[in-house]
This record gives sequence, structure tokens and C-alpha cells, in this order.
Amino acid sequence: MPATPSAQLSPDLAARLQHAGQQHLARALERVPPADRAHLLRQIKALDLECLPALVRDYVKSKPAFALPEAVEPAPYYPRDSSSPRRPWDEQHFRALGENLLRSGKVAAFVVAGGQGSRLGFEGPKGCYPAGAVTGKPLFHVFADAILGAQDRYGSAANRLTIPWYIMTSPLNHDATVSFFETNHFFGLQRDQVMFFPQGVMPSLCISTGRVLLASPREIATNPDGHGGSLTALHASGALADMQRRGISDISYFQVDNPVVNLLDPVFLGLHSAAPDSSAQMSSKMVAKASASEKVGLFCAAGAGPRKGKIEIVEYSDLPMSYQQQTNPDGSLKFNAGSIAVHIISVAFVKQLNTDDGFSLPYHRAEKKIPGIDLDTFEPITPAASNGVKLERFVFDALQMVDKSIVYETDRTDEFAPIKNADEPHAVASDSPTSCRLIQTRRAARWLEHVGVAIPRSPAGDPDCIIELSPRTASCAHDLASTHVKLPKAIDRGARIAL
Ligand code: UD1
Repeated sequence: MPATPSAQLSPDLAARLQHAGQQHLARALERVPPADRAHLLRQIKALDLECLPALVRDYVKSKPAFALPEAVEPAPYYPRDSSSPRRPWDEQHFRALGENLLRSGKVAAFVVAGGQGSRLGFEGPKGCYPAGAVTGKPLFHVFADAILGAQDRYGSAANRLTIPWYIMTSPLNHDATVSFFETNHFFGLQRDQVMFFPQGVMPSLCISTGRVLLASPREIATNPDGHGGSLTALHASGALADMQRRGISDISYFQVDNPVVNLLDPVFLGLHSAAPDSSAQMSSKMVAKASASEKVGLFCAAGAGPRKGKIEIVEYSDLPMSYQQQTNPDGSLKFNAGSIAVHIISVAFVKQLNTDDGFSLPYHRAEKKIPGIDLDTFEPITPAASNGVKLERFVFDALQMVDKSIVYETDRTDEFAPIKNADEPHAVASDSPTSCRLIQTRRAARWLEHVGVAIPRSPAGDPDCIIELSPRTASCAHDLASTHVKLPKAIDRGARIAL
């Protein structure tokens, strides 16, 4: 097919490419088969060429130094045990406040599911990964059950509750995600309570020159712009306007990789909305770190300076090990508040960020092997070492724009069993499908014993059975006492049971 005039590079665009140091894209356009020219030209036109030189200077040709909070110290948090003398607080009061928010339909669920899941080696959207310890239910199905469970718990015959669910995809997995839901009849949810929107992308850049990489002769190499992109994508996609139309005040944010997340937690919602040290803009959940080297973000605060007392998350790779290994007199880790990437974010705060002229989250740089096309020879390449830089934004950097923020501790077994890494042949890898299934059983056993169900245990004390507890049955130990599901008196040794 001959190239149409509109598929030609205009002199203005050629000059802008030259100015941005990206003239190789003009050459790529000359070489691409005519049928693909319009496709490539569209992608070139979508690049923010005016911003690229500064990004290349600041993130590719130099590695930005991470500035720790001044006189960094561990952030304070609400301990899981509300009667702890260290910081007692009124759990019943905050639970009631959060339940009210849920009952009055003010809360939406929001999952960020745009990541590439490359560590797990799973083809397709990560939310399609089979996670249920017994049923093998995909992650998206488990979250749908949690929403249905909350609707049962907080709605009534007189006041039917529909909790909207927003799902951020990326252009790479959007269609596959939507069709997975369609094929599975939205897992029992109503079609119009689930909204999908893709996040933005960034061009991937050559690690030595900063030139935009090509994935193929007709395709610029891009990467999703990080979960921080959700704060602008919520607005740009119309999701935020949809929330306002539905009367939503708070967004319950979670990651796609954790099937045991308590994704509509009334106590957390209550603390977020009414704790004296919360500005009700953005709040976070933490667990005590499993070890000094666990790869989780850490809640820190500035101990001095203009930002004194402000809470932020410092990614494990940015907090020097010498800090991560510091201990208290009783031997516990000093920086022990690990982020499980669960937040409540107010609709008003996201709206405010999107109307502030200067709003911009910082970028974070990641070095990656990016296969594609050599930018000089245009021959295919499969790099053996990192050849590209990915730029991403992190949602938790928005904590730095919040007036006052709270952190709430939860228990690791109750709420944190992410699936991030592939299984290993001879050991249980951390954050793997197998470790996740083991935690699901341990958690269910603990909650069931609490309401009098007898659990078979091995001499070492581990449950001698496999249990999957649907979040429709209970999303926390508290729910199990009043669940509508008939529970057995005892579970047989060696049983596989889904409740
Ligand atoms: C993340 C957090 C870490 C936290 C840990 C808890 C970062 C940088 N670190 O680590 O502080 O302790 O989880 O499990 O986030 N995503 C998108 N779009 C993107 C990139 C990611 O939607 O462009 C989503 C993923 O689908 C996933 C989540 O964000 O749901 C986390 O991404 P991932 O890169 O896997 O973060 P972790 O390294 O696991």
C-alpha cells in the first residue's frame, strides 16, 4: 500500500525530533514498510518530545541520587492490637465509622493491574493467575468474591449495595483483561459496576544514548508508566468523574498480586477518615517486616527540617542496608514497618492533584533488557545485558503531598500473601504461588479455630489439610463469627476444603 501524504514526516516534526536527539525515528520511518508507516508515525507524534531531553539528562545519562528524609526515623503507626499500651486506640469506634462509609455506598475498590508480571513468568494479565489454594480461582475472581461479600455484609434487602470496582490495566493487557471478565460473566458482579481503564505508557530509552528504543520496525518500545500513573489515569479516563457521580468519597487501593488482601476494611477506612492525625487524603497499611532484607517499601518520617513528622515510603532499594539492619534494644528491627501497598485515597485528594498546575510525581529509573531492533542497523537484537531504561512513577510518592497521614498495622498472615515470584523446584520461594497457598491455609485455620472449628495439625503445628476461605465467607477473622456460611465442626486430616 503506498504511503498516504498524512503518513509523511512533516518538516516541523523532523525538526522537533532533531532537537530532542531522536532523529533515528525519522530514519526508522523511512525504512518501515509503507503499510506500517502511518502506525509508526502515530506513535512518534504521541511522544512528548519537548520533555524527553530533560528526562534523558536526569534519568538516563545520570542516575538521580535518592534523598532520604532528613534525620530519617521510623514512621509511627496504629498497632494492630488496639489495646497496646504503646498507642491505645478505640477500634470499635473506627470500625463503626468505616462500616457507615461502606453502608452508605461511599467506598470504591480500585486495583492496579497494569504491571507486566515478568518475575512470575505468567503469560497474560496477572489477575488471571490461578490463586485459590483449593479452587484455583484466578486473582480477579477472588477480588470479585470480596466485593460480593462486602455487599452482602453492608447492604440489606431494603438498601441493596453496589460497590463499584475500578481496574487499571495497561495498553499491553487491557483487551485481554476485559475479555477475561466477559468470558467469566464478571464473576457474578454486575457489568456496570466494573470499570476498566488503561494507564499511560512511557517510551523505553536506550541506556547509553537516551534514544527511544524500537520493539520492532513499526513499534516504539514502551512500558507502563508505573502505578503512580493511576493518579492521572483515574482523572483522564473519566473514572474519577464516575466516582463523583456515584457519590464515592474514598478509594480502596490495592495491588493485583495479593489474594488475601482485606480490600474493603472498615477499621482502616474509619482510621483514614477520622483519626486525629489523618487529613483523610491518603492512608496506608503496614506489616512488621519478616527480615531486614525483605523487599518491601518502608514507612519512614523526617525527624527534622521542614518536613518533620511527614510520613513517606522509602523503597527497600533506596534505604541503605545499614538502616534496614538497625535494631531496637529488644532486638526488633527499628525500621520494621513494611508496606503492603494498600491505601485509602480520597476522591477529593485525587481531584486536587489533577487540578494543581504543578502536580507531577518523580520518576524512578529501572534498567532492563529490552529486545527489539538495533537503532543503527535496524537488525533484531536480544540483549544479554540491560540495554534500556524504564521510567515509572510510584503511587506512594503522593504521600509527600499529603498534609497528615496515618499508617495502620495489620498481620502478615491475615492480609499479605502476594504472588510475585515463580515457584522453585526444591524450596518454597518467598512470595510465590506455593507460599501464597500455604498462607491461605494457615490463615483460614487460625480464623476457623477462633470460632471453634477443630483443625488437624502436624506435630510441628502446621495445619494438616488445605483450606481456602472465600472472602465472600469472611474477609477478616471478625466476619467469621457472623458468616452466613455453615461451617463444619471439624476438618478431616488431609482434607482439601473450600469454604
Ligand atoms: C511493591 C511496592 C513495595 C511493596 C510491595 C508489596 C513498588 C515500587 N513497590 O513492590 O513498596 O512493599 O509491592 O507487595 O511498587 N503496576 C501497575 N502498573 C505499572 C506497574 C505496576 O498497575 O506500571 C501494578 C502491578 O500490576 C502490581 C503493583 O502495581 O499490582 C505492584 O507492582 P510491582 O512492580 O510488582 O511492585 P513490587 O516490586 O512487587
